[in-house]
Amino acid sequence: MVLGSANMDLVVRQPRLPEPGETMFGSSFSTVPGGKGLNQAIAAARVGGSVAFLGAVGGDAFGRELRETLQAAGVDTDGIALVERPTGTAHISVLDGGENAIVVVPDANGVELPLDDVQRAAIRAARHLVVQFERPLPLVAEAVAFARSVGVTTVVTPAPVLPLPEDFLDAVDILVPNAGEARELAGLDDETDAARALSKRAGTVVMTRGARGALVARGGEIVEEVEPYAVTPVDTTGAGDTFTGVLVARLAAGASDPEALRAAAVAAAIATTRAGASTSMPTWDEVEPLL
Ligand code: RIB
Repeated sequence: MVLGSANMDLVVRQPRLPEPGETMFGSSFSTVPGGKGLNQAIAAARVGGSVAFLGAVGGDAFGRELRETLQAAGVDTDGIALVERPTGTAHISVLDGGENAIVVVPDANGVELPLDDVQRAAIRAARHLVVQFERPLPLVAEAVAFARSVGVTTVVTPAPVLPLPEDFLDAVDILVPNAGEARELAGLDDETDAARALSKRAGTVVMTRGARGALVARGGEIVEEVEPYAVTPVDTTGAGDTFTGVLVARLAAGASDPEALRAAAVAAAIATTRAGASTSMPTWDEVEPLL
């Protein structure tokens, strides 16, 4: 079960970011279904996960396309609310070299919706609940606390990073920050120290480090290093979401921690070799031969 955002990504390829007051040319424009929640749901479904999505979209063309994209990937969309706001958008600059800069306008994703009985029942029926922070934090925190109370494994990507309620991390089974998010959440300059510190609160911390792979921390110690799968990236958008979605799908399929982590790293690397977020995520047939 993924509770999260669905955005239409409005993507411009450009050589660099403009200065304030500057007008410059980009080389291409595209619209790509995205949003960290939608991306994670699709990544998990592509590698064989059985996935349902709890989200919110507007009654516009973007909302319809996002719903259809999830359905085409085999994701259960019964939990998508139709709200009186435009569908969320993300304004993404992809620079030469594949790095990106993103401005998210939450719109429908930001509507405060209570966690109702139907959603609670859906979460209760799941093996894992996966969340990020592009939906209202009170909703996310309530869902995580509820999932924890009924024995559903909670998986949190703390992006975009936000100040958290005091006891939030204690209800997290698997925290998947990138290095910058880990440093900010822990309030520490060193990423390894940050992963160690966060793992004294969350059960397991899987800190993604881009082209440097990932580190796993538990109980205040680094317990595993995940080697990167080396590629030449063209667009890193959605790579972190791919990592989380595939990690959870493989854990749910019964893979061991090292197997699931390796699959996540390979899938995320593949995603960086293709343009877009949801459009870049590999199927299991593409990941498995590379493991
Ligand atoms: O993580 C990538 C995603 O962040 C994009 O798809 C964009 O929609 C933003 O949510």
